[in-house]
Amino acid sequence: GDNVLYLAHRFGVDMEGACEASLACTTCHVYVKDGYQDKIPEADEKEEDLLDMAPFLRENSRLGCQII
Ligand code: FES
Repeated sequence: GDNVLYLAHRFGVDMEGACEASLACTTCHVYVKDGYQDKIPEADEKEEDLLDMAPFLRENSRLGCQII
């Protein structure tokens, strides 16, 4: 799919994604830029649960592989 993780890789951005978008890691953790949070679909419960385990969690944290 065209999630942010895949897009990053397609455009040569070195972004980690240890579990390859299967929602089993937090290595694709990203911070969503100001003003863009309301332009993307909200995180579902599974993503939120995993995000809770991510280091350096912020209010604008998301898992890159779940942003479509
Ligand atoms: Fe593992 Fe995104 S790559 S949750």
